[in-house]
Amino acid sequence: MAMKEHIFWKEGSLFLLDQRKLPFSEEFMECTKLGHVEAAISTMVVRGAPLIGVVAAYGVVIALAGLLSKKGRVSPADMARVSGRLIATRPTAVNLAWAVERMNDAYGRCKDHDALLDLMTAEAVAIHAEDVENNRTLSRLGAALIHDGDTILTHCNAGALATGGYGTALGVIRAAHEEGKGIKVIATETRPYFQGARLTAYELTEQGIDVELVPDNHAGLLLYKQKIDKIIVGADRITRNGDTANKIGTYMIALAAREHGVPFYVAAPVSTFDRSTRTGGEIVIEERDSKEVKYLRKTPITLDCIKARYYSFDVTPARYISAFITEKGVIEKPFKTGITRLHTS
Ligand code: MRU
Repeated sequence: MAMKEHIFWKEGSLFLLDQRKLPFSEEFMECTKLGHVEAAISTMVVRGAPLIGVVAAYGVVIALAGLLSKKGRVSPADMARVSGRLIATRPTAVNLAWAVERMNDAYGRCKDHDALLDLMTAEAVAIHAEDVENNRTLSRLGAALIHDGDTILTHCNAGALATGGYGTALGVIRAAHEEGKGIKVIATETRPYFQGARLTAYELTEQGIDVELVPDNHAGLLLYKQKIDKIIVGADRITRNGDTANKIGTYMIALAAREHGVPFYVAAPVSTFDRSTRTGGEIVIEERDSKEVKYLRKTPITLDCIKARYYSFDVTPARYISAFITEKGVIEKPFKTGITRLHTS
Protein backbone atom coordinates (compact mmCIF):
# COMPACT_ATOMS: atom_id res chain seq x y z
CA MET A 1 0.00 0.00 0.00
CA ALA A 2 1.54 3.36 -1.00
CA MET A 3 1.61 5.90 1.80
CA LYS A 4 -0.42 9.07 1.23
CA GLU A 5 0.17 12.52 2.72
CA HIS A 6 -0.68 11.91 6.41
CA ILE A 7 -1.78 15.45 7.28
CA PHE A 8 -3.30 18.13 5.11
CA TRP A 9 -5.26 21.32 5.46
CA LYS A 10 -8.09 21.97 3.01
CA GLU A 11 -10.64 24.80 3.04
CA GLY A 12 -10.59 25.25 6.82
CA SER A 13 -10.63 21.53 7.67
CA LEU A 14 -7.75 19.43 8.93
CA PHE A 15 -7.44 15.90 7.54
CA LEU A 16 -5.44 13.39 9.57
CA LEU A 17 -4.46 9.89 8.63
CA ASP A 18 -5.75 7.69 11.46
CA GLN A 19 -2.53 6.05 12.65
CA ARG A 20 -4.46 3.61 14.85
CA LYS A 21 -5.59 1.83 11.70
CA LEU A 22 -2.15 1.49 10.10
CA PRO A 23 -0.73 -0.47 8.40
CA PHE A 24 -3.89 -2.28 7.37
CA SER A 25 -6.06 0.60 6.20
CA GLU A 26 -5.65 4.27 5.38
CA GLU A 27 -8.58 6.23 6.78
CA PHE A 28 -8.69 9.95 7.36
CA MET A 29 -10.33 11.84 10.20
CA GLU A 30 -11.69 15.27 9.28
CA CYS A 31 -11.35 17.84 12.07
CA THR A 32 -13.70 20.84 11.91
CA LYS A 33 -14.03 21.58 15.64
CA LEU A 34 -11.61 22.03 18.52
CA GLY A 35 -13.07 18.89 20.14
CA HIS A 36 -12.13 16.82 17.08
CA VAL A 37 -8.52 17.99 17.30
CA GLU A 38 -8.34 17.33 21.05
CA ALA A 39 -9.70 13.82 20.49
CA ALA A 40 -7.32 13.15 17.58
CA ILE A 41 -4.32 13.90 19.81
CA SER A 42 -5.49 12.28 23.05
CA THR A 43 -6.75 9.07 21.42
CA MET A 44 -3.61 8.73 19.26
CA VAL A 45 -5.18 9.19 15.84
CA VAL A 46 -1.99 11.23 15.51
CA ARG A 47 1.07 10.91 17.68
CA GLY A 48 4.77 11.78 17.63
CA ALA A 49 6.06 14.98 19.23
CA PRO A 50 6.51 17.23 16.17
CA LEU A 51 3.27 16.05 14.56
CA ILE A 52 1.10 16.77 17.59
CA GLY A 53 2.63 20.26 17.66
CA VAL A 54 1.65 20.86 14.02
CA VAL A 55 -1.83 19.44 14.64
CA ALA A 56 -2.30 21.67 17.69
CA ALA A 57 -1.37 24.75 15.62
CA TYR A 58 -4.10 23.91 13.10
CA GLY A 59 -6.37 23.17 16.10
CA VAL A 60 -5.99 26.79 17.24
CA VAL A 61 -7.07 27.97 13.75
CA ILE A 62 -10.11 25.68 13.80
CA ALA A 63 -11.12 26.91 17.27
CA LEU A 64 -10.69 30.56 16.26
CA ALA A 65 -12.74 30.08 13.08
CA GLY A 66 -15.57 28.68 15.24
CA LEU A 67 -15.41 31.59 17.69
CA LEU A 68 -15.30 34.18 14.89
CA SER A 69 -18.36 32.72 13.18
CA LYS A 70 -20.24 32.54 16.52
CA LYS A 71 -19.40 35.87 18.12
CA GLY A 72 -17.34 37.80 15.60
CA ARG A 73 -14.23 38.14 17.74
CA VAL A 74 -11.63 36.25 19.74
CA SER A 75 -10.58 37.66 23.11
CA PRO A 76 -7.29 36.94 24.93
CA ALA A 77 -9.36 34.88 27.40
CA ASP A 78 -10.67 32.76 24.49
CA MET A 79 -7.11 32.25 23.28
CA ALA A 80 -6.01 31.15 26.76
CA ARG A 81 -8.91 28.69 27.05
CA VAL A 82 -8.27 27.15 23.61
CA SER A 83 -4.53 26.92 24.33
CA GLY A 84 -5.11 25.26 27.69
CA ARG A 85 -7.43 22.66 26.16
CA LEU A 86 -4.92 21.74 23.45
CA ILE A 87 -1.90 21.64 25.76
CA ALA A 88 -3.79 19.34 28.15
CA THR A 89 -4.26 16.63 25.51
CA ARG A 90 -0.80 15.08 26.07
CA PRO A 91 1.65 16.34 28.68
CA THR A 92 5.12 15.05 27.78
CA ALA A 93 5.99 16.20 24.25
CA VAL A 94 7.01 19.85 24.49
CA ASN A 95 6.43 20.49 20.77
CA LEU A 96 2.72 20.73 21.55
CA ALA A 97 3.11 23.61 24.01
CA TRP A 98 5.80 25.16 21.79
CA ALA A 99 3.45 25.29 18.77
CA VAL A 100 0.53 26.64 20.81
CA GLU A 101 2.81 29.32 22.27
CA ARG A 102 3.88 30.30 18.74
CA MET A 103 0.21 30.62 17.77
CA ASN A 104 -0.31 32.86 20.82
CA ASP A 105 2.59 35.06 19.73
CA ALA A 106 0.97 35.38 16.28
CA TYR A 107 -2.34 36.31 17.92
CA GLY A 108 -0.51 38.93 19.99
CA ARG A 109 1.04 40.44 16.84
CA CYS A 110 -2.31 40.80 15.06
CA LYS A 111 -3.36 44.45 14.81
CA ASP A 112 -6.34 44.00 12.51
CA HIS A 113 -8.99 41.60 13.83
CA ASP A 114 -10.49 41.18 10.32
CA ALA A 115 -7.19 39.65 9.22
CA LEU A 116 -6.87 37.39 12.28
CA LEU A 117 -7.94 34.13 10.69
CA ASP A 118 -5.68 34.56 7.65
CA LEU A 119 -2.73 35.44 9.85
CA MET A 120 -3.28 32.48 12.18
CA THR A 121 -3.76 30.08 9.24
CA ALA A 122 -0.51 31.32 7.70
CA GLU A 123 1.27 30.74 11.02
CA ALA A 124 0.01 27.14 11.31
CA VAL A 125 0.97 26.43 7.70
CA ALA A 126 4.43 27.92 8.41
CA ILE A 127 4.89 25.75 11.54
CA HIS A 128 4.04 22.72 9.41
CA ALA A 129 6.34 23.65 6.52
CA GLU A 130 9.22 24.59 8.82
CA ASP A 131 8.96 21.25 10.61
CA VAL A 132 9.38 19.38 7.32
CA GLU A 133 12.28 21.63 6.30
CA ASN A 134 14.02 21.28 9.70
CA ASN A 135 13.65 17.50 9.56
CA ARG A 136 15.21 17.41 6.11
CA THR A 137 18.13 19.52 7.33
CA LEU A 138 18.77 17.54 10.51
CA SER A 139 18.46 14.30 8.56
CA ARG A 140 21.08 15.40 6.06
CA LEU A 141 23.42 16.42 8.89
CA GLY A 142 22.78 13.16 10.74
CA ALA A 143 23.37 11.05 7.63
CA ALA A 144 27.04 12.07 7.79
CA LEU A 145 27.30 9.93 10.95
CA ILE A 146 26.03 6.82 9.15
CA HIS A 147 28.35 4.51 7.29
CA ASP A 148 27.67 2.20 4.37
CA GLY A 149 26.81 -1.23 5.81
CA ASP A 150 25.64 0.02 9.24
CA THR A 151 23.02 -1.86 11.22
CA ILE A 152 20.94 0.69 13.16
CA LEU A 153 18.48 0.00 15.94
CA THR A 154 15.56 2.36 16.48
CA HIS A 155 12.70 2.41 18.98
CA CYS A 156 9.11 3.63 18.55
CA ASN A 157 8.36 5.69 15.44
CA ALA A 158 10.22 8.89 14.65
CA GLY A 159 9.46 8.86 10.95
CA ALA A 160 7.44 11.04 8.59
CA LEU A 161 4.29 9.86 10.37
CA ALA A 162 5.51 11.27 13.69
CA THR A 163 6.27 14.70 12.23
CA GLY A 164 4.98 17.25 9.74
CA GLY A 165 6.91 15.18 7.22
CA TYR A 166 10.20 13.38 6.42
CA GLY A 167 10.96 12.26 10.02
CA THR A 168 13.73 12.72 12.57
CA ALA A 169 15.46 9.47 13.62
CA LEU A 170 14.00 7.71 10.59
CA GLY A 171 14.72 10.85 8.56
CA VAL A 172 18.45 10.39 9.27
CA ILE A 173 18.19 6.77 8.12
CA ARG A 174 16.18 7.83 5.08
CA ALA A 175 18.70 10.52 4.10
CA ALA A 176 21.58 8.03 4.41
CA HIS A 177 19.63 5.59 2.25
CA GLU A 178 18.94 8.33 -0.31
CA GLU A 179 22.71 8.99 -0.40
CA GLY A 180 23.14 5.37 -1.50
CA LYS A 181 24.40 3.93 1.80
CA GLY A 182 23.33 0.34 2.43
CA ILE A 183 21.68 0.22 5.85
CA LYS A 184 19.89 -2.41 7.83
CA VAL A 185 17.40 -1.27 10.48
CA ILE A 186 16.28 -3.21 13.54
CA ALA A 187 12.91 -1.85 14.70
CA THR A 188 11.57 -2.68 18.15
CA GLU A 189 7.86 -3.43 18.10
CA THR A 190 7.23 -0.83 20.91
CA ARG A 191 4.63 -2.32 23.14
CA PRO A 192 1.85 -1.63 23.98
CA TYR A 193 0.92 0.72 21.10
CA PHE A 194 3.23 -1.00 18.57
CA GLN A 195 4.49 2.12 16.84
CA GLY A 196 7.53 0.09 15.73
CA ALA A 197 5.59 -2.84 14.27
CA ARG A 198 2.72 -0.87 12.78
CA LEU A 199 4.41 2.36 11.72
CA THR A 200 8.24 2.16 11.59
CA ALA A 201 8.44 -1.20 9.83
CA TYR A 202 5.72 -0.02 7.44
CA GLU A 203 7.35 3.33 6.64
CA LEU A 204 10.81 1.85 6.09
CA THR A 205 9.42 -0.91 3.89
CA GLU A 206 7.59 1.71 1.80
CA GLN A 207 10.91 3.54 1.42
CA GLY A 208 12.73 0.38 0.32
CA ILE A 209 14.91 0.25 3.45
CA ASP A 210 15.83 -3.16 4.85
CA VAL A 211 14.06 -3.54 8.20
CA GLU A 212 13.71 -6.35 10.68
CA LEU A 213 11.18 -6.25 13.49
CA VAL A 214 12.03 -7.52 16.97
CA PRO A 215 10.14 -7.66 20.26
CA ASP A 216 11.25 -4.86 22.62
CA ASN A 217 13.09 -7.21 24.96
CA HIS A 218 15.59 -8.16 22.22
CA ALA A 219 17.73 -5.02 22.37
CA GLY A 220 20.09 -6.37 25.06
CA LEU A 221 20.70 -9.68 23.30
CA LEU A 222 21.19 -8.07 19.91
CA LEU A 223 23.73 -5.64 21.31
CA TYR A 224 25.50 -8.54 23.05
CA LYS A 225 25.52 -10.96 20.14
CA GLN A 226 25.10 -9.17 16.89
CA LYS A 227 26.63 -6.23 15.12
CA ILE A 228 24.57 -3.15 16.02
CA ASP A 229 26.59 -0.15 14.92
CA LYS A 230 24.35 2.66 16.08
CA ILE A 231 21.13 3.47 17.85
CA ILE A 232 19.06 6.43 16.71
CA VAL A 233 15.84 7.52 18.41
CA GLY A 234 13.63 10.62 18.42
CA ALA A 235 12.62 12.67 21.46
CA ASP A 236 9.58 14.20 23.10
CA ARG A 237 11.34 16.70 25.35
CA ILE A 238 15.00 17.53 25.88
CA THR A 239 15.88 19.50 28.98
CA ARG A 240 18.60 22.15 29.36
CA ASN A 241 21.14 19.55 30.56
CA GLY A 242 20.31 17.06 27.76
CA ASP A 243 18.14 14.61 29.70
CA THR A 244 15.70 13.23 27.13
CA ALA A 245 12.13 11.97 27.37
CA ASN A 246 11.22 9.50 24.65
CA LYS A 247 9.05 6.41 24.28
CA ILE A 248 9.07 4.06 27.26
CA GLY A 249 11.90 1.56 26.83
CA THR A 250 14.38 4.06 25.39
CA TYR A 251 16.31 4.31 28.67
CA MET A 252 16.91 0.54 28.87
CA ILE A 253 18.25 0.54 25.31
CA ALA A 254 20.58 3.45 26.12
CA LEU A 255 21.92 1.60 29.19
CA ALA A 256 22.60 -1.53 27.14
CA ALA A 257 24.22 0.56 24.39
CA ARG A 258 26.63 2.10 26.89
CA GLU A 259 27.58 -1.34 28.23
CA HIS A 260 28.45 -2.44 24.69
CA GLY A 261 30.10 0.80 23.56
CA VAL A 262 27.51 1.46 20.83
CA PRO A 263 26.80 5.13 19.98
CA PHE A 264 23.31 6.28 21.03
CA TYR A 265 22.02 9.27 19.04
CA VAL A 266 18.93 11.42 19.59
CA ALA A 267 17.58 13.18 16.49
CA ALA A 268 15.18 16.05 17.15
CA PRO A 269 14.30 19.52 15.88
CA VAL A 270 15.02 22.55 18.07
CA SER A 271 11.28 22.70 18.91
CA THR A 272 11.80 19.57 21.08
CA PHE A 273 14.38 21.33 23.28
CA ASP A 274 12.62 22.77 26.31
CA ARG A 275 14.42 25.82 27.62
CA SER A 276 12.14 26.01 30.68
CA THR A 277 13.09 22.59 32.07
CA ARG A 278 16.45 22.09 33.76
CA THR A 279 16.66 18.31 34.18
CA GLY A 280 14.70 15.16 33.37
CA GLY A 281 13.26 14.90 36.89
CA GLU A 282 11.03 17.90 36.10
CA ILE A 283 9.41 16.29 33.03
CA VAL A 284 5.78 15.22 33.44
CA ILE A 285 5.52 11.62 32.23
CA GLU A 286 2.21 10.77 30.65
CA GLU A 287 0.46 7.78 32.19
CA ARG A 288 -2.08 6.23 29.85
CA ASP A 289 -5.10 4.05 30.52
CA SER A 290 -4.06 0.62 31.81
CA LYS A 291 -6.53 -0.88 29.32
CA GLU A 292 -3.91 -0.16 26.63
CA VAL A 293 -1.70 -2.75 28.40
CA LYS A 294 -4.40 -5.24 29.25
CA TYR A 295 -5.88 -5.46 25.76
CA LEU A 296 -4.39 -6.17 22.34
CA ARG A 297 -6.74 -4.01 20.32
CA LYS A 298 -10.04 -5.38 21.63
CA THR A 299 -8.75 -8.75 22.89
CA PRO A 300 -7.97 -9.02 26.61
CA ILE A 301 -4.57 -10.55 27.41
CA THR A 302 -5.09 -10.81 31.13
CA LEU A 303 -7.89 -10.97 33.65
CA ASP A 304 -9.95 -7.87 34.08
CA CYS A 305 -9.19 -7.77 37.84
CA ILE A 306 -5.41 -7.53 37.29
CA LYS A 307 -3.89 -4.12 38.03
CA ALA A 308 -1.69 -2.70 35.26
CA ARG A 309 0.38 0.41 34.65
CA TYR A 310 1.46 2.17 31.49
CA TYR A 311 3.89 5.08 31.51
CA SER A 312 4.11 6.24 27.92
CA PHE A 313 7.63 7.71 28.16
CA ASP A 314 10.85 7.44 30.12
CA VAL A 315 13.83 9.73 30.61
CA THR A 316 17.31 8.86 29.38
CA PRO A 317 19.94 10.76 31.39
CA ALA A 318 22.17 12.92 29.19
CA ARG A 319 25.30 10.93 30.09
CA TYR A 320 24.06 7.95 28.02
CA ILE A 321 23.54 10.05 24.89
CA SER A 322 26.43 10.29 22.41
CA ALA A 323 25.11 13.33 20.50
CA PHE A 324 21.98 15.24 19.50
CA ILE A 325 21.24 15.65 15.81
CA THR A 326 19.38 18.93 15.17
CA GLU A 327 18.76 21.20 12.18
CA LYS A 328 21.29 23.61 13.67
CA GLY A 329 24.01 20.98 13.80
CA VAL A 330 25.16 17.94 15.75
CA ILE A 331 25.57 18.74 19.45
CA GLU A 332 28.33 16.87 21.22
CA LYS A 333 29.39 16.89 24.87
CA PRO A 334 29.38 19.01 26.95
CA PHE A 335 25.71 19.30 26.03
CA LYS A 336 24.84 22.29 28.22
CA THR A 337 26.95 24.62 26.08
CA GLY A 338 25.52 23.39 22.76
CA ILE A 339 21.94 23.35 24.04
CA THR A 340 22.23 26.86 25.49
CA ARG A 341 23.53 28.01 22.12
CA LEU A 342 20.43 26.50 20.43
CA HIS A 343 18.17 28.51 22.69
CA THR A 344 20.07 31.75 22.24
CA SER A 345 20.97 31.68 18.52
O1 MRU B 1 3.30 8.01 22.16
P1 MRU B 1 3.88 8.52 20.87
O2 MRU B 1 3.69 7.59 19.73
O3 MRU B 1 3.43 9.92 20.57
O4 MRU B 1 5.44 8.59 21.16
C1 MRU B 1 6.29 8.99 20.13
C2 MRU B 1 7.73 8.96 20.49
O5 MRU B 1 8.10 8.64 21.60
C3 MRU B 1 8.68 9.43 19.43
O6 MRU B 1 9.90 8.76 19.54
C4 MRU B 1 8.93 10.94 19.61
O7 MRU B 1 7.73 11.63 19.70
C5 MRU B 1 9.74 11.51 18.51
S1 MRU B 1 8.85 11.57 17.01
C6 MRU B 1 9.79 12.37 15.86
